[in-house]
Amino acid sequence: MPFWDEIPTPVEALTGSLRDYRDLRGADLLRRVEHFFRWQDLRRQHHLWPYSRATEEAPKAVCAAQEDTGESFAGVNFGSQDYLSLASHPAIKEAAKTAIDEYGVHSAGSAAFIGNTRYSLALERSIADFLGMEHAVLYPTGWAAGFGAIKGLVRPDDHVVMDGLCHSCLQEGAFAATRNVHLHGHLNIASARRHLARIRGRDAENAILVVTESLFSMDSDTPDIAALQDLCREFKATLLVDCAHDLGNLGEDGRGHIGLQRMIGVVDIVMGSFSKTFGSNGGFVATNSPAVREYLKYYSAPQTFSNALSPVQAAIVLKAFEIVASAEGRALRAELMNNVNDLRGKLQAAGFEVIGDPSAIVPVMMCEEGLARLVASRLPELGVVANLVEYPAVAKGSARFRFQVMAKHSKANVDDVVERLHTAYEAAQLAYQRYSRLIARPGIIGAIGR
Ligand SMILES: Cc1ncc(COP(=O)(O)O)c(C=O)c1O
Repeated sequence: MPFWDEIPTPVEALTGSLRDYRDLRGADLLRRVEHFFRWQDLRRQHHLWPYSRATEEAPKAVCAAQEDTGESFAGVNFGSQDYLSLASHPAIKEAAKTAIDEYGVHSAGSAAFIGNTRYSLALERSIADFLGMEHAVLYPTGWAAGFGAIKGLVRPDDHVVMDGLCHSCLQEGAFAATRNVHLHGHLNIASARRHLARIRGRDAENAILVVTESLFSMDSDTPDIAALQDLCREFKATLLVDCAHDLGNLGEDGRGHIGLQRMIGVVDIVMGSFSKTFGSNGGFVATNSPAVREYLKYYSAPQTFSNALSPVQAAIVLKAFEIVASAEGRALRAELMNNVNDLRGKLQAAGFEVIGDPSAIVPVMMCEEGLARLVASRLPELGVVANLVEYPAVAKGSARFRFQVMAKHSKANVDDVVERLHTAYEAAQLAYQRYSRLIARPGIIGAIGR
């Protein structure tokens, strides 16, 4: 019998948000985080904490995994980010083994000292060429690249104008660099223009960095990159575009929306991550300016003061770029897009709200956190590995499943996930109706889901 038929769910596990525990007060730095832990643990005990999971094998289309509680489950996997299914590609594994035989497993130094390897230098060249840029600088993670590029280049009197939905690495970098951070409406060029005009109207002295993503990671939508670059020219600002989620896997040639919008080699600064499409941790910043490249090497802390990518990681990504640029890469992108369209169509036919444009990210809206948690709690038992996204990754009240599609998902995998999500949703909705009645009478701890 599934757990939800026998264990009552306390209302507190269905309400609340990480938002409630963000502000910390009190002199005891260790004890003041305990109330978060109590809430989180309540959710965990009731199978309502679908985070911090582990895979028990390679993150393929069907995969065995482990809950945060240690319980095992297995099923179709729409929760891993390996869009072209390169993480288990034989040529990539072979490249990793060759690099290990040649170099051992470690770069043993920051890139500013002697952490570069033959592979990392070749990778910098490959990325720059792929993007039609002159130079690229590698970072240990994509997060470090976003944070490091902004913090490395922006000074306290400068301004950052960024899309309100930009990724954590971009927002954290901006707020660490300056108090002058201006969030503009999502994809809203007119809003970006208003900010730029206002800033330039009173400050001609300091720099402005405009920041956006080529594919937004929670909404699967895309700004007009050319319009943003034009605005930057008009207001003497600089554009940075994060292409973490579409580079390599979208567009016939794999150059993502930057390529689709004919902006190859034209965007001022491009940054990206290897962890979605290229089979490894790591990230990069690409620029046409040798001065920017050299400056980042010594003034961007995660570049200068963090150990360089290992030779294994660099060799993996180098081989991944080779595949991405080949006929095989083209075929993998076509398989991926077939799966994406199939999944989006079937989810919509089953009555789900799927937002954004077709990409490897397929966001399925649940909205209310309580309902979303109840749906998520049923998925492992039904054989689905999927990520529920709540605050802080998205705004409160807009919880969603973020399915991440791979080239090697089969049609049967797509059918299975849609059918199982539907089953979970129906059951959760019934339980949630009872819960809704309970929260209408505050203070009552209800036994729902039975
Ligand atoms: C838009 C965006 N930028 C940067 C990152 C960070 O990349 P990584 O996971 O490789 O550190 C992510 C990953 O979640 C992302 O979604």
